[in-house]
Amino acid sequence: MVAQSDLAFRLQTVKHGATLTYTQMLHARNFVASKKFQTDNYDFTPSLEGLNSPSGVPVIAQIAGDDVRCMVEAAKILEDSGIDAVDVNLGCPQAIARKGGYGAFLGRDVEKATEILSALTRAVSVPVTAKVRIQPSLQTTLDIVRRIEGTGISMLAVHGRTLEENKTATKEANWRAIREVRKALSIPVIGNGGIEYNSDIKKMLEATNIAGVMSSEGLLENPSLFTPQLDDSELAPRDILDRQIMLAKEYVELAGIHEPVSCGGAGGHSTVKAHIFKMLYRALDNERFHDLRNRLGDSKCYKLEQTVGIIDEVEERLNGMDDGEITFPTEEFSWYRRHRQPVNAREPVEEMSEEERKAAIRQRLMAMKIQREEKERNKRMML
Ligand SMILES: Cc1cc2nc3c(=O)[nH]c(=O)nc-3n(C[C@H](O)[C@H](O)[C@H](O)COP(=O)(O)O)c2cc1C
Repeated sequence: MVAQSDLAFRLQTVKHGATLTYTQMLHARNFVASKKFQTDNYDFTPSLEGLNSPSGVPVIAQIAGDDVRCMVEAAKILEDSGIDAVDVNLGCPQAIARKGGYGAFLGRDVEKATEILSALTRAVSVPVTAKVRIQPSLQTTLDIVRRIEGTGISMLAVHGRTLEENKTATKEANWRAIREVRKALSIPVIGNGGIEYNSDIKKMLEATNIAGVMSSEGLLENPSLFTPQLDDSELAPRDILDRQIMLAKEYVELAGIHEPVSCGGAGGHSTVKAHIFKMLYRALDNERFHDLRNRLGDSKCYKLEQTVGIIDEVEERLNGMDDGEITFPTEEFSWYRRHRQPVNAREPVEEMSEEERKAAIRQRLMAMKIQREEKERNKRMML
């Protein structure tokens, strides 16, 4: 995930059960053109040192672009760096991807996409994989993925949403389409979309019969998602927030050891801040914590110790509150659900109380602010 798949975060998710990780998407043309871009966006320590079990926890580097030569060259550099596989992003829906003709826009241009994938499978000896979104028509989806499989790639990740179903138009992921893709292909298929809780993993595996499950937004908020655990709806608010604080502390400790790369020149600490915003999203939304949220968002907060201090203060304040006082909306207003329908249909808006509606608006504004910051950063990386 752009500016969020840093080594520290990958290590944290592996600690909690992830068995395969990806780097953030790397723009191939920029990656090839500039050594600085390479070291700013890729940590060149892809192996998960210290955590490599005898079976190993592979890490895949994801590249994006529409230029065959640049894609091949980038893949070769990544192969030389010791990466386990190279993935091509055929799913990014952002305007910048439209402009650059990559991501989901390349995914629709099946001639070009297959040309790139075929060139990559010939050029590197590590496995080449791809990640796609589904198309509005199942038949088109199946036609495209069959062509993609024909290029010799080793694995396909399928996000069960169309190009249009993103941001505020994000809907429940279409697991039926993922199941059909799985049935149509011989290579392993990874399913993506709609994993909010650990229990969803089993549900998705059973519904689709795929080889593995990929999580993004759910994992960003709860990096322990792959460890068997109760759903948030079954936990008391304090338990949820205690878990989130534990995860935030664990992440900053890892980030202290493996400082995130600078990500488009914005500095590694902006990656750390974006992680902590998501992990502590529900706590920081409470009015009693707004000052801490603002402190974290402040550009002057650029050192790890300052972030650690903010996490400690969140914890201290929570410890000083009675359980009855911790009445934050904890499930409906999670980072995961900030702009989407939950897996189980949500209460109609008109049935929300005034207080809930206000909380939802505050969450939306906060999410927009963070997204704006991330967008700015991404722009710097992708241009
Ligand atoms: C902050 C952020 C960054 C992302 N960056 C990438 C990326 O670099 N490459 C990619 O294939 N998908 C990226 N995605 C999309 C996710 O991988 C995933 O397809 C999408 O969020 C749906 O999965 P989910 O329901 O588990 O969140 C990103 C998503 C988020 C929220």
